[in-house]
Amino acid sequence: MRKLFALILSVVVLVGCSKPKGSEMDRFIDELMGRMTTEEKIGQLNLVTPGGGIPTGSAVSSDVEGKIRDGQVGGIFGVTGPDKVRMTQQIAVEQSRLGIPLLFGSDVIHGYKTVFPIPIGLSCSWDMALMEKTARIAAQEATADGLNWNFSPMVDISRDPRWGRVAEGGGEDPYLGSEIARAMVRGYQGSDLTAANTMMATVKHLALYGAPEGGRDYNTVDMSRIRMFNVYMPPFLAAIDEGAGCVMSAFNDVEGVPASGNHWLLTEILRDTWGFDGFVVSDYTSVNEMVDHGLGDLQAVSALALKAGLDMDMVGEGFLSTLGKSLQEGKVSMADIDKACRRILEAKYKLGLFDDPYRYIDEKRAEIEILSAENRAAARDAAARSFVLLKNEKNTLPLKKGGSIALVGPLANNKNNMLGTWAVSGDPQLSIPVLEGMNNVAGNSVTIRYAKGANISDDPAYAAKINVFGPRIDIDERSPEVMLREAEALASRSDVVVAVIGEASEMSGESSSRSDISLPESQKKLVRALKQTGKPLVLVMMSGRPLTMEEEHQLADAILYTWHPGIEAGNAIADVLFGGYNPSGKLTMTFPRNVGQVPIYYNHRTTGRPNPGDEFQKFRSNYLDVPNSPLYAFGYGLSYTSFDYSDVMLDRTTMGWNDNINVSVDVTNTGSVDGEEVVQLYIYDVVRTITQPVKKLKAFEKVFVKAGETKRVSFSLSVDDLAFYHPDLSFSAEPGEFIVYVGTSSDEVVSASFTLVE
Ligand code: BGC
Repeated sequence: MRKLFALILSVVVLVGCSKPKGSEMDRFIDELMGRMTTEEKIGQLNLVTPGGGIPTGSAVSSDVEGKIRDGQVGGIFGVTGPDKVRMTQQIAVEQSRLGIPLLFGSDVIHGYKTVFPIPIGLSCSWDMALMEKTARIAAQEATADGLNWNFSPMVDISRDPRWGRVAEGGGEDPYLGSEIARAMVRGYQGSDLTAANTMMATVKHLALYGAPEGGRDYNTVDMSRIRMFNVYMPPFLAAIDEGAGCVMSAFNDVEGVPASGNHWLLTEILRDTWGFDGFVVSDYTSVNEMVDHGLGDLQAVSALALKAGLDMDMVGEGFLSTLGKSLQEGKVSMADIDKACRRILEAKYKLGLFDDPYRYIDEKRAEIEILSAENRAAARDAAARSFVLLKNEKNTLPLKKGGSIALVGPLANNKNNMLGTWAVSGDPQLSIPVLEGMNNVAGNSVTIRYAKGANISDDPAYAAKINVFGPRIDIDERSPEVMLREAEALASRSDVVVAVIGEASEMSGESSSRSDISLPESQKKLVRALKQTGKPLVLVMMSGRPLTMEEEHQLADAILYTWHPGIEAGNAIADVLFGGYNPSGKLTMTFPRNVGQVPIYYNHRTTGRPNPGDEFQKFRSNYLDVPNSPLYAFGYGLSYTSFDYSDVMLDRTTMGWNDNINVSVDVTNTGSVDGEEVVQLYIYDVVRTITQPVKKLKAFEKVFVKAGETKRVSFSLSVDDLAFYHPDLSFSAEPGEFIVYVGTSSDEVVSASFTLVE
């Protein structure tokens, strides 16, 4: 299917929507729309929030109840829980003139009440079945509570760790990002959107939101179409191919036109070229924000958005308050309004809401399924699988279940930061801190003593910016010196030190860009002091983004990067630290050595003056003060065992246009414990008419290999896997030589080559 779709895309033609004309749904909606007034049609385009979630803009909606009764609301978010949803739906169904049910939306980004690791963490599992399962569980819990529409997945590719929202995505790679997009859509929507435990997915934010200049959230974006289509668009396309019902437009501009009013993007590309037949919702007041972009007053930008192909206005009420006037003045047509209204009604129809507006509310299921032991076990498992082992000298890890451990750091006994960003439905107080998890897993066999050692940050002004949704940075009453001395003393009388450090959850996420992405000074000092004790030093690092951590890399004996691990944080971390689970995560974003290297990503295009090494060379593309290589490459991650790769085996060295080429390697577990390895396949297109990335991920497989065992891993490549977008947006491969790399990381591979012939 994926390949077929790629072929369809190779020709930029009108695809049109796939549903049969004159279907049951069409007849139903024709009849309903025949009874609707213009005001009621415009009402369907209005998405409101009473402010129950996270109001990310300045506005929340007023008189929501009255508007629902008057048929002026199509969907609502920030209302959850069976009682509230039922009450709200009753107003729409029983008290409005036509009784049209509402969509109930929410940001269920990484789990509902059972909170899974943040998306960038989950992506490091490279386990698509696992990601689908987390989305499935999220949908089961959220629908029991009455929700039917999810503002997820966020599939924005990003190569800039300064941008705080990298926490919400799947990292820097378009191929991996596309596979993740598919898995998430499948997880949320299942195979039957009318089922009471599936919900409509929204793929967001179309487009390029992950590339704001300077990594500053909501900032302007500018890029070439070859970059746009080869790197930033593929995950959207994949999600749409998988059947995502909704697309959210981005805040930023695309080629100078804000996404929410961009006809080329929302109609020519999204619908006419990609064949999307769902509805488009704006981001939070992004229609209104086009006024600040200088495109006219609220009436003008609302008309612009509707005509561009935007169907539903989130919170801003520009559609509600101005489209009637624009219709009278001929600035929009009845057909424009009808088109958008039809798409919203179709979404409701596809969800089965006209058959039963209450199908997504299930008090009994909510009671049994939400936060069930089974779901919590899945969260624990998912977290362990998302951690990335970055360093492990002298087999410092796994820890022995004996002796004494100094557990230190501001995140070591902390509930408030385990869930990570965008966990609107989660309760931080239900999360397991690391201290508790270590005690759960180690029992009485180990003496575990705790000292906080440092504040996340000592700066109260900084803490105030982070603590907007609750106390994430809690500045101790004791002085930093007293805390540090206590931790040092504890470390000195323990066998090993485990320091749990990093970012508070709101140090990444929306509106949390950072220009310095290193640890706050208070924690740098703690790491230095712990090193001075001479004890083996394990760092457990929590964060929503890649941090710059060259010094910590030098000082630590072992580093486990856990991102923000979710509700079962402590248990999952203890499982990995004590060897109950052998870490298998691999990075999905490159870790820079310093912030001046940003943007840094593995699949950069060629330069005419490359420097393949790390030594400075005059008149080559490099820096005077830092090597070109990252601290940790895309795809990197260690295990408690080691894997050996054979040479790459190809079943042919010449490939015709309709051939598939089979690529295989033998992977041997050369260590003494069983483990999983993510085998990664990259290609390099040697002969081409436009410059190409030095490597492009094209396939991967996560395999379990027993100690001492060898497994053959095989991949099949077709001509579509060799194709790319050209400046005219045609999608095709070019004949000539290709190198295929297979390996454990983007920078550790074995290779072979073949030729594509016409
Ligand atoms: C975010 C979206 C989110 C929306 C609704 C916005 O600020 O950019 O990703 O879905 O708020 O909560």
